[in-house]
Formats: sequence, structure tokens, C-alpha cells
Amino acid sequence: MTIWNFGSINADHFYDVPHLPAPGETLAATAYRIGLGGKGANQSVAAARAGAEVRHIGAVGQDDAWAIDRLAQYGVKTDHIARVNVATGHAVIYVAASDGENSIVIYPGANAAIELGAVKDALEAAATGDLLLMQNETGVQRAVAEVAKARGLRLIYSAAPFDADAVRDVLPYIDTLIVNEVEARQLSAALDTGINALPVANVVVTLGSDGAVWHDIGAGTEARVAAIRVTPVDTTGAGDTFAGYLAAGLDAGLTVKDAMGRAAAAAALKVTRPGTADAIPSSDDVERFLATQS
Ligand code: RIB
Repeated sequence: MTIWNFGSINADHFYDVPHLPAPGETLAATAYRIGLGGKGANQSVAAARAGAEVRHIGAVGQDDAWAIDRLAQYGVKTDHIARVNVATGHAVIYVAASDGENSIVIYPGANAAIELGAVKDALEAAATGDLLLMQNETGVQRAVAEVAKARGLRLIYSAAPFDADAVRDVLPYIDTLIVNEVEARQLSAALDTGINALPVANVVVTLGSDGAVWHDIGAGTEARVAAIRVTPVDTTGAGDTFAGYLAAGLDAGLTVKDAMGRAAAAAALKVTRPGTADAIPSSDDVERFLATQS
């Protein structure tokens, strides 16, 4: 089947810093680089590198053909990426040398200018059973989710950057919700319900260095995977790598446990590399990495 991804595309500006800046603190970066990013683009690249057929639906500014070309190089189909008269989205990312943790500010730009009509046109080619990935860095999410559900797609929504209202809006349409631990707590508080009682078929909670857990809400069961221990260089995009690999694994018919295991390995490997989309490992890299763990 095809994985569709209605998602952001950013130019990621990385600044390596000794530690994440405190309020009011001025820091000198030790290195600066630009790469392809955006939670959407990262997830598309991850799913494509995992072997899935991926079609990205998104937008960039008129001068940023490089971002489209880069996605295509990684195997993502780009026919539904619009060129709009708004600057491409970008992110300012600080990466701490001490532990690879990050701090991110995004400017949505073109990501917020994607029109519902363009997404509907793209999804005309989608088939029942295809997957649609979404994150919270674009507009018109609820309308897109409604259209996709009506067409028989299975929806996976990553609730990042976290906004409880955005989750509430799409919850009736999605099949699988992906949150990290902090987002899970925020969502439980906002909706006044436990993660296990959310009105959605599946919830995946990523736990950083503790792995991830898949909750099948209807069955009341859980599938857990441990994280693989690595020395972190840059944690940026690890969650996106996990989500893209997970979607590709499910699309390929892997069991939940196996898809989660490969996704966790891909995310661990990503953390050992600086960058976001450009640092996402290929499926061969992931297989070799997994072989070193047994
Ligand atoms: O999840 C990491 C991503 O968040 C970065 O690529 C950045 O662009 C922001 O969207």
C-alpha cells in the first residue's frame, strides 16, 4: 500500500552549543549547519528509507526546490508538494554537546499555507487501506483527517508539537496516536482521562531511553520494546524516525512488536548521528545495527 504524509517541510538550522541556553543567557555556538527537516519531511524520509512507498503532501517557498530534490533523493514521491508564495518553514535547533538534547523553535511559513483543496486533490489517488501520517506542524488537520477517513485510509497522528486542542480535533478520525511521555501526561490532564481510556484504537507512547509501548485500547493489551543503549550525539528527529519506521513496518505487514522493534533501532541509530532527515538510517543500516545487538 502507499503511505501518504500530510506534513511539514523545514530548513533546519542547527547550532551546536555546550548546553541548552537558560533564559537570558548568551551562548556561542561551536558549529552551525543547515539540513532538511520538519516533522513531516523526517517521517516521510524515515518511512521511505524503511522501504515503503511514500507520497508527501506539503508545500515549500518558490526558491526552495532543494528541499523537494532532497526528499526525492531519499526515495519520497514529491508530486504533491506545492511551491507557494510564502517562505519555506524553518527551525532553529540548539543541540547540547553534553547529552545531545535539543531545543527547537519553528517558523511554520509555507507549512501553514497548504490549502485543503490541494490535499483533497492529492488524496483522490489514495486507496482504501493506505496509511496517512500527520503531525501538528500544518493547518487544516481536522478537515484532512475527515476526508482521509471517509476514503478508508488508516490514520497515524503524531501529537507534536503538542497542542491538546489539535489532538481533540483529530481524535475522532485517527487510528493510532503517537505521543511521548510528556505529551501523554499533558493529554491525560487536558482530556481528564487516562491514556488507556482515550477514544482511539491505539496509542503509542515513546519513552526515550526506556523504549516505547503500544496500547491496544479496545483489547486492553500492551506491546513494549526496550530502547537500544547508544551514546547520544543529537536526539533531534528520533521520534520522527521512530514514527516513520513504525508506519513502514505496519504497512509492510510486520507484527506490532516487530515494527516497534525496528522503529526503536532506527531511532537509536539516528541519535548517534547529527542532523534530522539527512541523518535517518537506511533499512540496511538498521539491519546491520540490529545484528550487532544479538
Ligand atoms: O522533530 C524534529 C523536527 O522538529 C525538526 O526537523 C524541526 O524542523 C522541527 O519540525
